[in-house]
Amino acid sequence: MDNVANQKIKSKYDNIASVYDVADWFISDKWRSKVTHLAYGRVLEVGIGTGLNLSFYSDCCREIFGIDISPRMLRHAGERASLCQVPVKLEVMDVQDLPLDSDSFDCVLAAFVFCTVPDPFIGLRECHRVLKPGGKLILLEHMRSENKLLHQLMDWLNPVTVTIMGDHINRNTVDIVAAIGFRMQVVENLLGDVVRLIVAER
Ligand SMILES: C[S@@+](CC[C@H](N)C(=O)[O-])C[C@H]1O[C@@H](n2cnc3c(N)ncnc32)[C@H](O)[C@@H]1O
Repeated sequence: MDNVANQKIKSKYDNIASVYDVADWFISDKWRSKVTHLAYGRVLEVGIGTGLNLSFYSDCCREIFGIDISPRMLRHAGERASLCQVPVKLEVMDVQDLPLDSDSFDCVLAAFVFCTVPDPFIGLRECHRVLKPGGKLILLEHMRSENKLLHQLMDWLNPVTVTIMGDHINRNTVDIVAAIGFRMQVVENLLGDVVRLIVAER
């Protein structure tokens, strides 16, 4: 695991935690509502950030266990936990190395996280491991477009966005999820084919 890259992401989010909610205006409540309403049972939310999804979970969920690599982002999530109609637990954790039991969650949900996780293969393999057989992976992600021009532009700009923001704009997250062995159930374009909803089953 790349600890330097991990440290860089942690510091970035620690530094922007107090202004994150303003900076992330582009993630619409409509998207948040759509993904959280697919969740049920015991849910692991990876990269929960400041907890902006918490008010949208339905009472089909039994528990939300939120993890994030940034303690300061999690502190804000803690302030939002009371907005959630189901019990919330929060812990600092790296999705690439989860100290959690295998086969222990009904759903794993993440919104705009695997664009920043240094190794998405390792992180998503961990999500696969902690999901129960038949459990659901629910992702809201921005990713590489299949439009030739746009994806060339994304490839070209990617080193800049990674250096400045630690954000990969050209990952093919759908292919990564499939390569790990998930059974793909839904791939829905939400903003062109750049922002997509992915639902896959372990
Ligand atoms: C773009 S923010 C999204 C936050 C939140 N999901 C939302 O929808 O507002 C990405 C989040 O992923 C977290 N993150 C990045 N790498 C991580 C890792 N390896 N393990 C856990 N969380 C991570 C960051 O700290 C940050 O809170």
